[in-house]
This record gives sequence, C-alpha cells and structure tokens, in this order.
Amino acid sequence: MPKKPPHTTSLRQTAQSVPATGILHMPGGFPILGHAGQLRTHPLEFVRSLREYGDIVAFRLGPRTAYAVNHPDLIRQMLVTDAKSFTKGRMFDKGRLVARNGLFTSEGDFHLHQRRTIQPLLGRAHIRQYTATMCQITQAHVGTWRDGHEIRMDRELFDLALATATRVLFSTQLGKGRSETVRRCLPILLEGLGKRAVAPIDFLDKLPTVMNYRFSKALSLMHSVIEEIIAEYRVRDTGTADLLAALLAARDEDTGEGMSDEQVYDEVITMLIAGTETTAGALSWACNLLSRHPHIQARLQDELDECLGDRDVAFEDLGKLHFLQQVIAETLRLHPSTWMLTRSPVTDIELGGHVLPAGSTILFSIYALQRDPSLFPDPDSFDPDRWAPDRAEQLNRDAYIPFGAGVRGCAGEQFARTEMGVILSVMLRQYTLSPASGPPARPIVRLIAMPSAMPLIVHRRPHGRGVREVW
Ligand code: HEM
Repeated sequence: MPKKPPHTTSLRQTAQSVPATGILHMPGGFPILGHAGQLRTHPLEFVRSLREYGDIVAFRLGPRTAYAVNHPDLIRQMLVTDAKSFTKGRMFDKGRLVARNGLFTSEGDFHLHQRRTIQPLLGRAHIRQYTATMCQITQAHVGTWRDGHEIRMDRELFDLALATATRVLFSTQLGKGRSETVRRCLPILLEGLGKRAVAPIDFLDKLPTVMNYRFSKALSLMHSVIEEIIAEYRVRDTGTADLLAALLAARDEDTGEGMSDEQVYDEVITMLIAGTETTAGALSWACNLLSRHPHIQARLQDELDECLGDRDVAFEDLGKLHFLQQVIAETLRLHPSTWMLTRSPVTDIELGGHVLPAGSTILFSIYALQRDPSLFPDPDSFDPDRWAPDRAEQLNRDAYIPFGAGVRGCAGEQFARTEMGVILSVMLRQYTLSPASGPPARPIVRLIAMPSAMPLIVHRRPHGRGVREVW
C-alpha cells in the first residue's frame, strides 16, 4: 500500500504561516469574506488546490481561520483513531436546523446509543428484504421510458431514489399528496442547508429573503407530513415490515425503552436527507459515465446478461456481479456525493506535527483526496479496472472513503450500494444509454455534489430483460 509523500511544492514558499500553529496560510483571500467566496463559487477547484500548500493548510472563512487537511493518514486520525476528540463541526451545526438530533448530527454518547439501535435496521438482513421492493419500483419506473427518447436522467433518478427511500421507510402509507410534498420540499431543504454550511456569516440565514422563506416553509411542511405519519403508525399497528415500523419498535438494549416521537422524527428526516440525493447523484454520474464509455457499458451489460439470465436481480447476485461493483466503486471515487466534510476538535489537538486549537473548523474533501494524483494514477479518468483485485491492492485504502470511515461512517452504505446495484442492473438490462447533444453535465456543488441537467437517450435493447412485460 503506497504512502502519500509529503508535499514539496514551490507554492508553499509564497504562503505565510499562522502564528502559534506553524501551519501555512493560503494566500488570496478577500477582505471580510476571506476564501469563502472561492469555496462558494469554485468549490471543487478550491478544495483540489488546497493540497498544493501542504498536508494541512489554513484559510479564512469570513472572520474565522479554518484548516484543511489533505493527507489520508491525518484524515484517518480524525475519523477513526482519534474520532472521540472531534465533533462533526460547522457543516453539521447547520444540518441540525433540519435533522435536529438525528444520527447524522447528534454527538457523543447519545449518538453512539442511537447508532447501536439503528445500525441493525440498515444491516444485511433488512436490506435483503428491501431488495425486491427496490427491484419492483425500478421496473415500474423504467418501464415508462420510450425507445430512443431523451430523458432527464438526473430527475428520473432523484424520483426513483426518493420513491425507494419513502417506500422502504413508510411502505405504502405516504399517499400521493404527501409524497408530492416530500418530493417538492426535500430539494429545497438540501439546497438551503448547502448554502448555510458555507456561508461566511451566520445571520444571512435569518434575513427575510425569498430563499429563507421557502426554506422555513419547506421545513414546516415536511415536519407536518412526517409527524402525521408517525402518529398514524402509533395509533394502529400497520402490520408493515418497513423502516419506520422498525424504528418505532426498536428498544434500548439496557433499559428496554423505545424512542420518543420527536426522536423518531429526527431519524426519519435524517434518512431522507442523508439517503436520497446522495444516492441519486451517484447513480446519475454512473449513468453519465457509462453513456460516455460505450465499451464499458457493453461489458457491464454482458456481465448482467450472463449472470442473471432471465431472472430479476436478487440481493445475493450483487456480490457476484464483480464488474458492476467496480463500476460503482469508480463512480463513487470520481463523484463522491459528500464531497467535503467538517470536524472540530474538542480540545487542542496534535495533527501532523501541528497543534490545532479546540473549537476550530477543520475541513477535508473526499473529492480532492480521491482525485489526488499521488494516490490514484490518472485520477480524472474513468477506469473501473483500477478496482480489479490485482490493481486494487496497490491502492491506499485510507484514500478511498466515499462513505466516510469509523464510528461516523455512513450508516446507509449497504442500503446505498444495494440500491445502486439494483437500479443499474434493472435499467441496463433493458436499455443502453447514450449522451444527448448539448454540453456535458457538470457538478453543482451544494451540501452534496449533484449533477447539473443530465439529458441522456435511452435505447431499448432488442433482447433486454423485462421488455416483454412492459410492451
Ligand atoms: C451513494 C450514497 C451515499 C453516500 C456517498 C453517503 C456518504 C456518507 C458519508 C461520507 C457519511 C459520513 C459523514 C461524516 O463522516 O461526517 C455518511 C453518513 C451517514 N449516512 Fe450516508 N451516504 C449515502 C447514502 C446513504 C443512505 C441511502 C442512507 C440511509 C438509508 C444514509 C444515511 C447516513 C447516516 C444516517 C449517516 C450518519 C451516520 C452517523 O454519523 O452515525 N446514507 N454518508
């Protein structure tokens, strides 16, 4: 496993260091905003440029000094070995506006307790049960596509990911009106959270702007819908084997106590926020990359045809579809939905030979790490074979963290991997994707990195599985 070498670039000579820490300060910030403008207008270029200044570099977010950590060993220290010494930081303080005290945003012992209770509900046994539902929803959705038509793949996949998340959470209890409310409100909340996370000054969220009004309205509508559903589940046994029923039935191992309605609400909205756009974005990029690499798409279709024959894809198949797994791994390397994360040390902490002050904001970018040329040769190219066993073992595994790592790593990783595998399998057995004319999709970076409009043309495969049932 190769080690990442220390930085020796000449840019380091042009930067000043931050007194007391000895860490270099990135030049080029603006008065008042510091580097927040660059982080907002050119976020991906900005986070990639940070590594030129060393393994840790300081920059200004408005009036505050923040630190970017660019080395996989130091990121591992924050996420795994010294995880207890960090809270999740500024980005998640804003997340609490929506997800309150859910798994994504809670801290300390309370988080550990909730994680122990909820993780089994997202484990293999439950996910296996959800696979058939994922398959049915996808069959029904892609069955409406017409041969040779151009579709907005980003929208289709958001709808599909949302339909899957809501069906797995609430079975059929949502209904059309409430489903539409969730579909409208969720993107507004995600966009609002993204803007707040990188805003240089906190009071901007409190100004009476149209954006802030839409955000509050969406939050209150989502609250009403989810509260209503929880109340319905409480008064009558729905007899459903869905995630909400499992959350309501979950008991603390030691005390036997269940969660309050407020806590169940926090966990439900957390799953929707953490699990919908992330998966939809990753799937959209996978489709985009496959449409632009026809030989890779054809190889994947051959694997699917050969392994599945005339059957629907089942949970057990996913582990055997090795090339599918390589395509998913490579997509998540190039386009990790959670492109940037924050942490904050609870006490002064030693990191990479420097002492970072308690309470400071530390940022690290999964996107920049996974495109670092010293860690991934030819980092911008789509090469699923870099995950073939003989080549994958040469890679530094600490540099590949699309689902994070340690106790705060993604609780829905298995869910997301299964959903991506099922949707791609069902779709690519029926259709071949090709790019539509017009500019290629580019990342729109908010809290997570989503693709811009992504029109693709879907061509029905002559012997594609499922075509007979649809037409
Ligand atoms: C491709 C899709 C996904 C990606 C790339 C992704 C990525 C991540 C990452 C990087 C983290 C760690 C954040 C941190 O360390 O600060 C995380 C946490 C989390 N994710 Fe995911 N996620 C995905 C899908 C999902 C799904 C489908 C769910 C729910 C069903 C989910 C639920 C969560 C939760 C609850 C946490 C917080 C875990 C904790 O702090 O204990 N995610 N995710």
